[in-house]
Formats: sequence, structure tokens, C-alpha cells
Amino acid sequence: MIARGDVAVPGDKSITHRALLLGALSSGPCRFAGALASADTRATAAALRKLGVTVGRLVEGRALTITGRGLRPLRAAAGTLHCRNSGTTARLLLGLLAGHDFEARLTGDGSLRRRPMARVTEPLRAMGARIAAAEGERLPLAVRGGPLAPLVWKSPVASAQVKTALLLAGLVGGVPVAVEEPVVSRDHTERLLRLLGVRVTVEGTTTSVEPVAALPAFDGDIPGDLSSAAYLLAAGVLAEAGEVVVRKVGVNPTRAGVLRVLERMGAPIEVRDRWVSLGEPGATLAARPAALAPVVVEPHEIPSLVDEVPLLACLAARAPGWTSVFRGVGELRVKESDRLALVAANLAALGVAARTEGDTLFVEGTAAPPRGRVTTAGDHRLAMAFAVLGTVPGAAVELDDRACVAVSYPNFFRDLARVVHSA
Ligand code: S3P
Repeated sequence: MIARGDVAVPGDKSITHRALLLGALSSGPCRFAGALASADTRATAAALRKLGVTVGRLVEGRALTITGRGLRPLRAAAGTLHCRNSGTTARLLLGLLAGHDFEARLTGDGSLRRRPMARVTEPLRAMGARIAAAEGERLPLAVRGGPLAPLVWKSPVASAQVKTALLLAGLVGGVPVAVEEPVVSRDHTERLLRLLGVRVTVEGTTTSVEPVAALPAFDGDIPGDLSSAAYLLAAGVLAEAGEVVVRKVGVNPTRAGVLRVLERMGAPIEVRDRWVSLGEPGATLAARPAALAPVVVEPHEIPSLVDEVPLLACLAARAPGWTSVFRGVGELRVKESDRLALVAANLAALGVAARTEGDTLFVEGTAAPPRGRVTTAGDHRLAMAFAVLGTVPGAAVELDDRACVAVSYPNFFRDLARVVHSA
């Protein structure tokens, strides 16, 4: 298989959600080039519109416009806010709504309704928000916000969604917030806030934000999503010849663990043309074929590559010799699917020896081509990771669902086909 091409991946999902929410909290018209137009980011845009914010259409290749209305921009919505498959939409909106004095109802699709919300509802209640759940601490939820108290919170999980929800609640409520995490999670929110003149401090693994009177309107170019780029780069690594170049990709170090692990696996990704946009470092990345070595990934690395574990596990399946080990990957159980169980089960279904033991995933590499059917459970990252594994010579990997890639990378299969060619 030859992988050759020069592509630009869609905008970063995390940064697009944040541009929408911080744009709404700003003081006027904002414009973002390169925003991601996908099911997840459309869920955030639609929820904001329902809450009275003017948000332009999210269309691939067109700049996103949003008009800020100050630090408490939302109005009571008629009906329920549907967060679809997007955990970021649900958790970040909860933070914003906690500081608004009206009731809002949030729900999501079957996957999102199974995901834990206590990690945000508990601290938001400690700040003074009233949140009611019908069943356990899961969606659907009703939130009634109001005046909030300052918060010092020790989060048991390293989660940028939790951290961001609490920092946003602090901004809307006009109170200081400090969040301690086991390991510092992706810091896109903090970078944008600093850009907007907010005092953000990080001491050890505690991130604190001071309240402000207003946020200025802002514009910018959203970098390409490293989590999306990683699939195309991985296809370049698995190929027998060629080079895959991905342009304008965000390489924020709190997100770029995948690049560090690929290097340890013997597949260094070349970083060219560095630049900075919206406070985020970016670069052009290039991948070439490599003979992969097994790898051990430690718990402290997981937050920086949490969405790339399925892909790295698929690459580990092509790294013969000894067993690759991913420690501390328990969070994968509560993503869009139980990714820990499904990565192991799907690799096994393709003839790869893979198993879990507690929060550890073991993958034994093999030179035998993967053949079989993959159960995605509608999870975009499983579909894309196994589609890439299916590009190796002799492979026959069938996915039970391809449409789910629309959550984060609607044109994934088109772009994959653009770079992967049979020898
Ligand atoms: C995200 C944070 C991560 C990641 C998700 C997007 C974000 O989740 O898995 O795809 O935009 O903050 P956690 O912060 O819950 O680990």
C-alpha cells in the first residue's frame, strides 16, 4: 500500500466548541476561520441559538460568526437542549448555564445519556447551581443557575471538559475558580482566556481563573484537529511507501501525546513550518512508512492522547515482538462508547491478541493481516482507527457503521481514500 498526499484536516473540535462558547460570552461580533463543521460542534451551535445567541451557519470552508452578548448572554430556551453525541457540549453548557437564573433542560443521544455527569454536576452544585437528574447523575438533566460562590475543587479525573465547565461557570458567575487535576488536561480554554486578557494561573496541577468585568470580542483561525490528522498520519506510517503531509495542524503539547508515542514506536512525525494562532501552536506534519516497535504508555501520558488510544492500539497491533501496554486507560470506558472493551474485542475479532486487565490494555503485535468485522457502537474514533488498520496489505476490515465519523470528521473516508492507494 502506498500512502501519498498533502491534505488539510478540518478544524479542531475542542477549540471550535470553545470559540463558540467564549464568543457567546464576549462583547460583540466574532469570526473564526477554520471552524469544525461536524455533528458535535453543530450541537453546541444549535444549543446556543436556542438560548438566544446569534450564531451563523456552521459550514465547512466558511468562517463561523457569533455575536457575543456579555458574560451572561443566555435567555431561557423553549424546550430541551439536545447535545446529541457530544460530551463537550453537555458538560461545557452545564458550566455556562450554572450562572444563569432560569431553568434549562439538557439531553443527548443514547451514548451521551449513559455518560457520567457527576464530575461536573457535583462541583457546580457546590457553587450554588441547582441540578436535577431523573436517573443517576446522567442526562437528561435540569439545571437552574443563579448567583454562584467561589470554588476550589479537586477533580478525581483529569478532564478538560470538567475543568472548562468550572472555569466558564466562574466567568459567568463573576467568582474565582481553582481546579486541581491528577494530571493537567488539554489547556485550550486557558490559552483562549489569556488571549482575552483573563488572569489564568497554573500551579502544579491546579488551574485558577480570576473573574473579569467583560471579555472582548475576538477573531481568529482555528487550527486543524490533531486528533483527526492522527488517522491520516497513521495510514502514512503503516504504508509501504510514500509520505502523508497534513497542513495547519494544532500541536498543543497538552494534546500531542500521540506524536511522542509514535516517536517511541519508531515512527517519528516530521514537524515543519511552526506557527501560532489563537494562542495555539500549529505546524505541518509529515509521516513516512516505519517498522513499528511495541510501546508502553504510562497513566500520566493518557490525558494528552486520550482520544488517540484506539488508534495507537491499532498501530500496536502492527508492532510485533513483544506486547504493547497502555496503563491507566480506565477513562476510555466512559467515552462515546466503552472504548476499552471495544478496542480489545475488535482487535481480537481481527485476529490480534488483545486483552484488558483492570485499567490496562495489552496488545500483541502481529504481522498477519487483520481480517474480520468491527463493532463501532456508533463511536467515530473506533470507526476511524479500525478503518486505518484496514489499509494494511492483505487486510479485510469491515465496519458495522461508517456514518458515525460525522461526529468529528465528516469527510474522513474521502480524505483517507485521497491518501491511500494500493501498490
Ligand atoms: C475534550 C476533552 C476530552 C476529549 C474530548 C474533548 C474537550 O474529554 O476526550 O474528545 O474538548 O475538552 P475529557 O476532558 O473528559 O477527558
